[in-house]
Amino acid sequence: MASLLGIALLTLALSGPTSAFVPIGGGASTHTSITGTALLQKVKETCQAVAAAGGYEFNPTGLSAEELAQACLGPTATGEVSAAKFVSALQEIYIQNGLVDRDFVNSAPHHFNSEAFLEGRGLITEGVGTIKANIRKKNFQAARETLGRVLHTLQDFYSHSNWVDLGFTGTYINLIQPSLPLQNLADIYTATCSDCASGTCSSSILPNILKEKKLTSGYMGIFSNAKPKGKCSHGGASDLTGTAAPRGGISKDERRPDNVALHTAAVKAATEASLELLEDIRSAAGDKDFLRMMGIARSSVVCFVIDTTGSMSDDIEEARSIVYEIIDSKKGTQDEPSEYILVPFNDPEFGPIIKTTNPDEMKTEISKLKANGGGDTPEMCLSGLQLALTGAPTSSSIYVFTDATAKDIALKDTIIALIRSTRSKVSFLMTGPLSRRRRRSLRAASFDDYKELALASGGQAIHVSKAQLPQATDIILDTSTSALVTVLHRARNPGKQEIFPFMLDESLKNITIYITGTGVTFTLTNPAGVSQNHNEASGKLGSIKSVGNLWRIRLNADKQTGNWQININSNQPYTLKVTGQSMITFIYDFVESFEGPHPGYAVLRGRPLEDIGLVTVSGPETVSKGKTSDMGNGDILVTVDAIPEGEFVIILKGTDKLSQSEFQRQSTTQMSISKVSIQAAVDSSMEPGKAFELSFTVMTQGPSGQYFISARNDRGYLMSFSQSLTLTTGEYTNSTLTITPPTNTASGTDVTLTMEAKSSSGVDSNFVVLRLSVVTKITDFYQPLCEVVSVLAGDCPKDVSQCGPFQWELMANLTDGNGTGIESISLRQGNGTLLTTDLTAAIIQANYTASCCSQIVELIAVDKVGNVGKCFYSIAPSAGPPAVTLSLPLWLCLLVSAFVTKP
Ligand SMILES: *[C@@H]1O[C@H](CO)[C@@H](O)[C@H](O)[C@H]1NC(C)=O
Ligand SMILES: *[C@@H]1O[C@H](CO)[C@@H](O)[C@H](O)[C@H]1NC(C)=O
Ligand SMILES: *[C@@H]1O[C@H](CO)[C@@H](O)[C@H](O)[C@H]1NC(C)=O
Ligand SMILES: *[C@@H]1O[C@H](CO)[C@@H](O)[C@H](O)[C@H]1NC(C)=O
Ligand SMILES: *[C@@H]1O[C@H](CO)[C@@H](O)[C@H](O)[C@H]1NC(C)=O
Ligand SMILES: *[C@@H]1O[C@H](CO)[C@@H](O)[C@H](O)[C@H]1NC(C)=O
Repeated sequence: MASLLGIALLTLALSGPTSAFVPIGGGASTHTSITGTALLQKVKETCQAVAAAGGYEFNPTGLSAEELAQACLGPTATGEVSAAKFVSALQEIYIQNGLVDRDFVNSAPHHFNSEAFLEGRGLITEGVGTIKANIRKKNFQAARETLGRVLHTLQDFYSHSNWVDLGFTGTYINLIQPSLPLQNLADIYTATCSDCASGTCSSSILPNILKEKKLTSGYMGIFSNAKPKGKCSHGGASDLTGTAAPRGGISKDERRPDNVALHTAAVKAATEASLELLEDIRSAAGDKDFLRMMGIARSSVVCFVIDTTGSMSDDIEEARSIVYEIIDSKKGTQDEPSEYILVPFNDPEFGPIIKTTNPDEMKTEISKLKANGGGDTPEMCLSGLQLALTGAPTSSSIYVFTDATAKDIALKDTIIALIRSTRSKVSFLMTGPLSRRRRRSLRAASFDDYKELALASGGQAIHVSKAQLPQATDIILDTSTSALVTVLHRARNPGKQEIFPFMLDESLKNITIYITGTGVTFTLTNPAGVSQNHNEASGKLGSIKSVGNLWRIRLNADKQTGNWQININSNQPYTLKVTGQSMITFIYDFVESFEGPHPGYAVLRGRPLEDIGLVTVSGPETVSKGKTSDMGNGDILVTVDAIPEGEFVIILKGTDKLSQSEFQRQSTTQMSISKVSIQAAVDSSMEPGKAFELSFTVMTQGPSGQYFISARNDRGYLMSFSQSLTLTTGEYTNSTLTITPPTNTASGTDVTLTMEAKSSSGVDSNFVVLRLSVVTKITDFYQPLCEVVSVLAGDCPKDVSQCGPFQWELMANLTDGNGTGIESISLRQGNGTLLTTDLTAAIIQANYTASCCSQIVELIAVDKVGNVGKCFYSIAPSAGPPAVTLSLPLWLCLLVSAFVTKP
């Protein structure tokens, strides 16, 4: 059975206890659980629809992420499917959802506090527009991050307003329908609450507010108790306004004895509202892209960054042939890549990034690459790599083909920051002569830089001659699979003789050991004490191949479970990596605890772990063990008291409950802690041609003094910021960066911004990576209208079992009124055929014909900015008049008559 362990490590926290992502729920229901319930439900529905359309069965064995992902991928997922991508996508959404309580703790609109209804709705409207624009441009990560934030605000409406106190059990659809007005809001002069001396009263909303169904929300004051006269408060320890009359609070964040019914109603409404928002996004995006945004995709991605300068023609040919091999050999299997990414670089040009899901297009693109220009100079390797890191999904494997050092070595810190934030693995296939270039200065690059980058990411740096390259590319085939895990990864510089023990569990398949280094000798020993030497190409334990600086040992497939060791000897630097394919894997997040009205923590999912900790990859080895605490739902939080000096990774050991087999895993991306912190939060999208101001905060626990700020973005947008800040130990210093996307930027474009703060000594540094979106200001909030003009169902027999040979027909007129125009019309439900007239016409006619056995139809019309209009019709006898020939029923599916301007 597939098993996925998730852990979050509480390590980067400098101090402070951990507490919950509270909002809505001190008990079982939190933002995370509400968001999770809604996401899983909507993914399930979407998968069901996709399966029905594809003509295959959708029978998940349960509602867990693994079971859903497996069932959803359909017939191609014959073996076990790793749900790591899906779980990571969920996690990204949860984290952004939770961060709203840290980054916008004092912003009323983000929480629908203090009657900021129009502003709160404005955030939702803008956010939804951004998500839709991002999805159109296939910028799924940016879409997920905004989705997390928008859901938080939407959910807070139900716990912070008096909506459920007013007796409403459904959702307030107007919050996600900007064309509908927010009505009956209590104005600033209207008192809304009675005094509640105890602080927790079951009902303090004034009777006339209840009677008139006026909408209000609790005021929140973190620094002051001021609020307009007679107004309700949020309540709770952090809200100072709750102590000013009228005292108490109306928040339903936690379940308390006095508010059980209201809390439960708020959770229910917030869950339903989340589902509605997701449905709107799904309708605009289409099922396929909605699922891709949710990480329901085969996990393997092919990402090549290729040097195209004059001397590279053999390398390009080899890259081309390996791409063809991957595409042709994995077609139709669960290892078939879900996406192909190609970034060429030269000198001085690099890019553009080519992304496609179509294997034939990838073949065409890579066949177009020609080696030319550049000459014998270092090249723009890191610029190309930067595009790949920002454009590829997180946790991708990226392969860089080059024969020269990097001209743009100044980007190295940015690349490391991107590696850490994306957790992608970067491997280099270097074919240049070893010491072709002498270091001209300290800043001049060498192949050692590539080795450092590879190690930092958990990838490998392979150095071979051009003639040997074809023998080295097996490593790419090995890794272009789903469910790849790392058992052990270590580096030694300088090299020395050392024994490395590791444990192989029953679930591991295709176990491969890689050693990179020169002058290496080794002996491998299995749990039974059988050994194989480096010079036995084909032995009792496996087959050994060596090319350039790479050794590849593929273990034989027979029983391998137990404790192994490898004894390596070399006086040169070397790396050791043990990998395999397995369903037992884990995902993690480093989290920071934060305080405030809704203090936060990060959720861990998985099964009991015996042992978890941090370990240094480059010797000497130091291990810090973590304290695990069960957070319920099988979620685990790990706190590590001491953090190793320097770069470290996460190690995890445990017992698989099902097989009783012990296992060990390690994370790939190296991390280190820093005394400096730099923080910034994305609040809204940018507009083309407009300067966008981003505030950021820098703090150091190291010495006071000057710190250098650097910032880069992957699209070359103009930026200005102060490059030096004077910090005082322990104090936050604010600054602003201005970034301006060009006027002609396409709506939905994302830009990855990397900012770094470095002490003047260079000893302490830290970074933040932000994904911003450029979205053209949306002024079209009109949904397409769909009007059923006629239904001809007279032929359908009353007895449904006789429906077989008979057909019915529906005709509808669709328009987008003053909107941007309809872009697509599709069938959401119904097994018939849909024909439409030209979509550019003012009125579009749609004809739907179906068998009388398929009794319902739902049409979806999406306009150019993603507003969704729907049309539903049923010929089932229970749903209204029986199937007679109706002429012009004039049944309006969605009538949007009133509208307001965006607040
Ligand atoms: C993994 O191992 C199986 C047999 O155990 C084999 O059929 C398959 O080709 C291997 N996959 C790779 C990528 O080597
Ligand atoms: C820095 O910004 C935060 C909010 O972003 C604000 O609360 C704080 O007062 C600012 N500090 C200074 C010194 O301006
Ligand atoms: C539907 O559209 C057609 C073609 O534009 C038009 O002739 C007809 O009057 C429309 N019907 C209704 C009911 O609006
Ligand atoms: C379309 O715009 C015109 C002029 O701005 C306005 O008079 C009309 O009411 C609008 N129609 C709709 C359906 O909004
Ligand atoms: C829809 O059906 C009507 C009546 O049969 C016909 O006039 C019209 O051309 C059809 N439209 C399309 C797009 O097929
Ligand atoms: C379409 O057909 C499938 C089975 O072929 C059925 O399960 C489904 O309910 C049908 N959908 C509609 C809307 O009739």
